[in-house]
Amino acid sequence: MKHTIEVPASVDLSLGKRARVQANGSDIALFNVDGQIYAIDDSCPHNGASLLFGKLDGRWVQCPAHGLRFDLANGCMRGGGMNVRAYPVDVVEGCIRITLPTPITDPQ
Ligand code: FES
Repeated sequence: MKHTIEVPASVDLSLGKRARVQANGSDIALFNVDGQIYAIDDSCPHNGASLLFGKLDGRWVQCPAHGLRFDLANGCMRGGGMNVRAYPVDVVEGCIRITLPTPITDPQ
């Protein structure tokens, strides 16, 4: 199951900007690269560093901790190995929506 969250209008994701939002108990890093919005987990799969302020090279972000690079479009690591979770983003009439997996809830 999946659900969609809406990025608050107060979050500035104009051209070249980055932002962090919380959803499903996780931090999601958002990037506006050349007008395209990307959403990935803000936690490097190597050792958990924040990717939000990693160096960008086009749609590739470099982890500031140890330098692994990830494709913002699909979360794949350059050269393979491990991936960061990437989420579909839709922009409708200026409203940014991220599609996330439905969180697993404790049945108790
Ligand atoms: S924590 Fe990102 S490369 Fe090590």
